[in-house]
Amino acid sequence: MKLADNKATLSFSNGSPSIELPVYQGSVGPDVIDIRKLYGQTGMFTYDPGFLSTAACQSAITYIDGDKGELLYRGYPIEQLATGCDFLETCHLLLYGELPNAKAKGDFTKLVTMHTMVNEQMQFFLRGFRRDAHPMAILTGLVGALSAFYHDSTDINNPKHREIAAIRLIAKMPTLVAMAYKYTVGQPYMYPKNDLSYAGNFLHMMFATPCEPYKVSPVLERALDRIFTLHADHEQNASTSTVRLCGSSGTNPFAAIAAGVACLWGPAHGGANEAALNMLEDINRNGGVAKIGEFIKQVKDKNSGIKLMGFGHRVYKNYDPRAKLMQETCKEVLAEMGLENDPLFKLAMALEKIALEDDYFVSRKLYPNVDFYSGIVQRAIGIPVPLFTAIFALARTVGWIAQLNEMIGDPEYKIGRPRQLFNGSQRRDVLPIVKR
Ligand code: CMC
Repeated sequence: MKLADNKATLSFSNGSPSIELPVYQGSVGPDVIDIRKLYGQTGMFTYDPGFLSTAACQSAITYIDGDKGELLYRGYPIEQLATGCDFLETCHLLLYGELPNAKAKGDFTKLVTMHTMVNEQMQFFLRGFRRDAHPMAILTGLVGALSAFYHDSTDINNPKHREIAAIRLIAKMPTLVAMAYKYTVGQPYMYPKNDLSYAGNFLHMMFATPCEPYKVSPVLERALDRIFTLHADHEQNASTSTVRLCGSSGTNPFAAIAAGVACLWGPAHGGANEAALNMLEDINRNGGVAKIGEFIKQVKDKNSGIKLMGFGHRVYKNYDPRAKLMQETCKEVLAEMGLENDPLFKLAMALEKIALEDDYFVSRKLYPNVDFYSGIVQRAIGIPVPLFTAIFALARTVGWIAQLNEMIGDPEYKIGRPRQLFNGSQRRDVLPIVKR
């Protein structure tokens, strides 16, 4: 890490001696104050619930400038990656640090493609789930279960194991998500078809049946590929931090990624696309565009507990660049499916317009995030609403595994162990039950 020119001095009003803390500079973005010796020198911890001011690690993978609304994977703007590269090129970039040339792309694609099948036993494991189980419940179980099938790649301290586990996870996630879907609708599983693209193969496994030929639509294939690219990584968000914390104990990569899937499920994180679409459907059922004013009023009322889902972000205090790209894709997919007059898209556009002019949202810097439009795109493709977050998990797997592998390779890596400000009972004695 590069030391900055200045140091931080922490002084106390009670006369305790002040201490100097080193400051480090990243390649871009805020400097950090190194507080690692703080407890040793002062007996104090820092307090930062929700990690609002804490850099939990150093990373060279993804950079977000929330004020500018900029997202870079390994330095490349998301807009250029989403329009100039496909998802597997992006995976190569995230995992190895560089975009592949044509030869490296071919080799990487072949490597991933060779691992798309899952062990046949997985089908029997799936049968233990209720048919109406939420796909994220199924996915959490299936991903965790991979560690029981691939004993040859579970040693997190072995770089070869880490790499093969990464490839297996990227390759098998689409197969698992499609299997979870087929299971809930009672259709036969479709085996991967390795002559299709990553996104094309997923569409095939989702929507083909053994009875009819299935032709992948290039527009839907491109849309899905873009959804995957836009969701591939997002620096130290809740699920990525979960993967890092889980993996920091030395657990195997499949277990760590399963923890990420579980975290992503929440409506404040990956579950927001499902929640956003449900919200739009709700407004549409109850009067549509004419009722937006009433809905916005409820959102602004703190006691209502209602949020404008797909709006606001911990880091972006400007338009989420992914939302713009997703809006573009939304228009393309709706046109392809003959849904130009989709009422939910019209509603979303109207909601966005009103919110962007309303002082409540403007003053809090609340803008549409990636989830505002992604639900509409996925619904138009034919993906059922409960599967949306599973698609997000599929796409984010590469980010999780790249971040996990970066952590394990970092010489400063330690098991994660936050501390606390304890405010419960002090020591007391247990009374015999008759005296309590
Ligand atoms: N609707 C209405 N008010 C909001 C919203 C919203 N969607 N988001 C934030 N606010 C208000 C919040 O009530 C607070 O108001 P006040 O200052 O008066 O108390 C203020 O804006 C700041 O919000 P916060 O909760 O302190 O912000 P945060 O950084 O802790 O939360 C968030 C970020 C994403 C959890 C939140 O904006 C939210 O719940 N949004 C809706 C869910 C959503 O779309 N999540 C997807 C995030 S993007 C996908 C991903 O990367 O995972």
